[in-house]
Amino acid sequence: MKHFFKLMSFRKILSIIFVGTWLLFNLSCASNSDEKILFFAHSLPTSHPVHKGIVAMQESLNEKSGGKLQIKIFPDGQLGSERETIELLQIGSIAMTKVSASALSNFAPEYKITVIPYLFRDSDHLFKNLEGEVGEQLLASGTEYLLRGVCFYDAGARSFYTKDAPVNSPDDLDGLKLRVQNDQMSVDMANTLGASATPMAFGELYTALQQNVVDGAENNIPSFVSSNHFEVCKYYIFDEHTMVPDVVIIGTKFWDSLSEEEKVWLEEAADESVAKQKQYWKETVDENMKMLKEKGIEFIYPDKAPFVEKSRPVMERLLEDPQLRPIIEKINAN
Ligand code: GCU
Repeated sequence: MKHFFKLMSFRKILSIIFVGTWLLFNLSCASNSDEKILFFAHSLPTSHPVHKGIVAMQESLNEKSGGKLQIKIFPDGQLGSERETIELLQIGSIAMTKVSASALSNFAPEYKITVIPYLFRDSDHLFKNLEGEVGEQLLASGTEYLLRGVCFYDAGARSFYTKDAPVNSPDDLDGLKLRVQNDQMSVDMANTLGASATPMAFGELYTALQQNVVDGAENNIPSFVSSNHFEVCKYYIFDEHTMVPDVVIIGTKFWDSLSEEEKVWLEEAADESVAKQKQYWKETVDENMKMLKEKGIEFIYPDKAPFVEKSRPVMERLLEDPQLRPIIEKINAN
């Protein structure tokens, strides 16, 4: 038994204690309260524009429901990594989470398409798809895995950043150990571009950079800044290889337990938060870019053509999958 606990991360033990306490609390309070509280866990810090989007949803839901349906947010990976919060959702211990679409691709394969390099031409093309048929299909695809999609949040474009290796072309990625998200698509993306992909949870990355476990990573500007990775990495390379959105999900068990009225409140609150979050995103990127320049971070704007060319096999491999091919073709035609 002692050995078993040694093998578990401290975070996981905390999650289990938390979940146990929560269950006890809920069982004992269910009969004397007509308020419902949806526990919402995610991995980003509170200064991040995605967290601010979630707060907007929380406030709007509170207002619409007159406090009858509330969201309690656990930010900053307090309840574990994205994979762990997805699992907590599946077993019904938390109601909602916000994860990167790439983390979801481990559970619901349709989300793999969001990690294809240079699939989306720009932000307009991305949202045209996410807010149309493709987005609906993706959000619905999680339901059979107990993960009902609620909405997408803007997570910009992901680019590489390195501690001390300037990268001007994919050739410069050769031999660099770069942290990627914990899913097969992200590993494939970085390896195909010539790097040596090192998957790990976002929360472990600062230390990994500091201790030279990896030479760099890839992410959008607000995550590069709010995680303080810019303190350790000198170069940010605007190759913008992917536009992986963030996704809010609710466990199907919680969704099914809501009344029709509560479902409408939640959907409306989510829609309102999507518009606000896009605004927070833009404002944050502008502020962050200014700050990074002042701190002396070197921005590199490489020619994207060699990156597009070298990463093409990632899409070609997915086109062989009969389930994914029609979605990719739809996006390309849009
Ligand atoms: C982005 C995304 C997070 C994700 C992180 C990562 O910041 O918004 O959901 O955890 O990338 O690289 O892991």
